[in-house]
Amino acid sequence: MKKKVGFIGWRGMVGSVLLNRMCEENDFEKIVPVFFSTSQQGQIGPKIQGVIQSKLENAYNIEALEALDIIITCQGAEYTNAIFYKLREIGWSGYWIDAASTLRMKKDSVIVLDPVNKNIIEKSIHNGIKNFIGGNCTVSLMLMSLGGLFVSNLIEWVTVSTYQAASGSGAQNMMELLHQMGAVHTSVSKELESKCVSPLSIEQKVTKVTRSEILPKDYFQVPLVCSVLPWIDTHVKYGQTKEEWKAQIETNKILGSKDKILIDGVCVRVGSLRCHSQSFTIKLRKDISISEIETILSSHNEWVRVIPNNCNDTLHNLTPTAVTGKLITPVGRLRKLSLGKKYLSAFTVGDQLLWGAAEPLRRILRLLV
Ligand code: HSE
Repeated sequence: MKKKVGFIGWRGMVGSVLLNRMCEENDFEKIVPVFFSTSQQGQIGPKIQGVIQSKLENAYNIEALEALDIIITCQGAEYTNAIFYKLREIGWSGYWIDAASTLRMKKDSVIVLDPVNKNIIEKSIHNGIKNFIGGNCTVSLMLMSLGGLFVSNLIEWVTVSTYQAASGSGAQNMMELLHQMGAVHTSVSKELESKCVSPLSIEQKVTKVTRSEILPKDYFQVPLVCSVLPWIDTHVKYGQTKEEWKAQIETNKILGSKDKILIDGVCVRVGSLRCHSQSFTIKLRKDISISEIETILSSHNEWVRVIPNNCNDTLHNLTPTAVTGKLITPVGRLRKLSLGKKYLSAFTVGDQLLWGAAEPLRRILRLLV
């Protein structure tokens, strides 16, 4: 019998990407979907492959949720906190699939990224685990690109600088960035067309605008346009942010590592829209050649692409512009650093909404049905 699957938070960015991908892969044929809303119960459901779905159920109606075999939520932490424990307390034993970080590090949860940890996922399904949570986007994207080195136990430690897209902080933030871009352009559009205005005076005007109250900054607090923001999420301790903290703890949980791999770095918000990039320094456990490294990386999964370390290939294939909207997870700038033979540099790019969020959830759902 087809499983009854409830969707919560399907209208947001991650949820929309999830539904699109499910349509592309004909996943809806395998389930009976039920669509929920936290605010628009009773309204008409979405159109899935030409068919309008039945009316939206109330996402806070425990009885309606209890009737489901699987719940998949992209609604966020607040919803998870409000509903998950209530459902478990009344004995609901269905599968809970979640994009939010709330349950990620719980003992009875598995962080899902099946190209990397399918063995752990399958074992935990067998052992009766019911909570399957998507990983942090930078972690998932790092493991999709560098998975070969991680699973071969070739990495001793990693430091990373991230270049995280606006979408990672939410749809409103992404829109705010675009408004900031528009406002900056408007402020100097005449000067840009004139041949007699010096670039430095245009820069000065732009700088003045970015320091004024003209730009919208309700969500980012400060302008992201023409800037970068080297702080993501809250402070944990010792000056490390939560986003930075997640890298090591989630990676080792996903991999089920026996020897803990050390990972730390600086997480930075940049003005790309939905692709996260990351620049790595990797300390290898042993000295292996770049061509061996390329073979290990490219044979790990079907989405990784090793980009040759030259200008043309890098600029055309290893940027958010090249990768946005695609499932590929390229890695390039591979070279041994002058620090020594065990020190490798790498640069990765990946779509934050696909492998960074929706795709691992879609695939665990598929596995469970
Ligand atoms: N925490 C990520 C970010 C979002 O801020 O970019 C996805 O996990």
